[in-house]
Amino acid sequence: MFQDDFPRLQERYELTDRKLGQGGYGTVLRAYDRRTGQAVAIKVLKNRRTGIGAAVLAAKQQDRALLRFKRGGEIQLMLSGDDPRRVDPNLVFVHAYGLVRHKGAEVPALVMDLCPGPTLEDLLKTGTPIPLTTVVDWGRQIASVLFRAGARDVVHRDLKPSNVIVVDAPHGGLVKVLDFGIARFIRSRGPSRMFSTTIDGHSPMTGLYASPEQRRFRPLDHRSDLYSFGVMLSELLHTGLYGTMSEYEEAFPQALRELVDQLQAFDPDDRPQDALQVYQALTRIRTALEAETVRGRPAEISAGPPAPVRRSAELSREFAGLAVELTQRFSPMHPDTLEQRQAELRFAARAGEAVGAAEWSVLTQDYERAVGRSPGAPSGRSLRGEAAMAG
Ligand SMILES: Nc1ncnc2c1ncn2[C@@H]1O[C@H](COP(=O)(O)OP(=O)(O)O)[C@@H](O)[C@H]1O
Ligand SMILES: [Mg+2]
Repeated sequence: MFQDDFPRLQERYELTDRKLGQGGYGTVLRAYDRRTGQAVAIKVLKNRRTGIGAAVLAAKQQDRALLRFKRGGEIQLMLSGDDPRRVDPNLVFVHAYGLVRHKGAEVPALVMDLCPGPTLEDLLKTGTPIPLTTVVDWGRQIASVLFRAGARDVVHRDLKPSNVIVVDAPHGGLVKVLDFGIARFIRSRGPSRMFSTTIDGHSPMTGLYASPEQRRFRPLDHRSDLYSFGVMLSELLHTGLYGTMSEYEEAFPQALRELVDQLQAFDPDDRPQDALQVYQALTRIRTALEAETVRGRPAEISAGPPAPVRRSAELSREFAGLAVELTQRFSPMHPDTLEQRQAELRFAARAGEAVGAAEWSVLTQDYERAVGRSPGAPSGRSLRGEAAMAG
């Protein structure tokens, strides 16, 4: 049976009754890694009551649910990588997936880093306005993840506020995209169709965030996620804002309003074509906002090793090239990428080029957020063995 393909995890992980959250498919519980003592989060597939006399169908559904869970686990494991020191700060590190005993049954489970913090849905429910710069920073991080996924031909397909966790609540700023449960590889398996992996044939995507092509069960590509992202961004910007249209227009930079509209275009061809473009547009907006804060202040660029002017210019270009490479390999918000960008700006300044205080300030904040304050970050011990065991 299909179940035999799953490693048994109960010896390694001890489940508790503490519920961390719940979604359409899974319940996420606090658990412990018996070997390391580390607290982890385990998502267990919800126990579904099977219909009366539908044993055959139920078995089929159970198999499909397992398959969906397996694929979600594989995708998340692939995206977060198997090296805990190189985990993208905006993704949740996945330790393993397999079967655990829960409420007397063996159920599929996904073992992840524990990420304390509310989801964007929790924050939206409070109705408290969220500062503009915070929304833009969250958006940049989500765009960064979408770029990483898109570069690997993965479509998330279920991007919505309950699938994004804010680790430093409420406005500290590190966000993590969760739940690649219904994500799919595109090119490798042909155009994706929504209904192909859903349990019971129901659409798993909440109507509000589903792209028009998703609602029509048309083939999807990464631009479908950009639509969902646009809806989310728009919601985050409007929360707690009950003003008139003209107040709205005053509140947000025109470039941001245009981007949000463009993301929600009906036709995927009318949306921005990839997430990197979106990330870059949001970064320009963020830098412009920062410029209002740091106006008149020179960039306080922290010193590195001194180098002659001409060599500095060369180095600046070299680091710029490296940053582009690392963006492709990881993501624009990965600490390795940000480090090269910092070096690029540092040497540009030394070569006498104008480096804006705002640009430097935003980059420094990005870097600190990515490396400094991520309570969910793994200890650095290699979990390669776990990943291998899971695969
Ligand atoms: N790694 C985690 N750490 C802490 N809480 C989590 C974690 N993963 C998920 N959650 C919580 O559980 C909820 C459901 O998780 P999710 O992966 O979205 O499951 P589903 O596929 O059922 O939607 C999330 O909205 C979040 O509140
Ligand atoms: Mg979810």
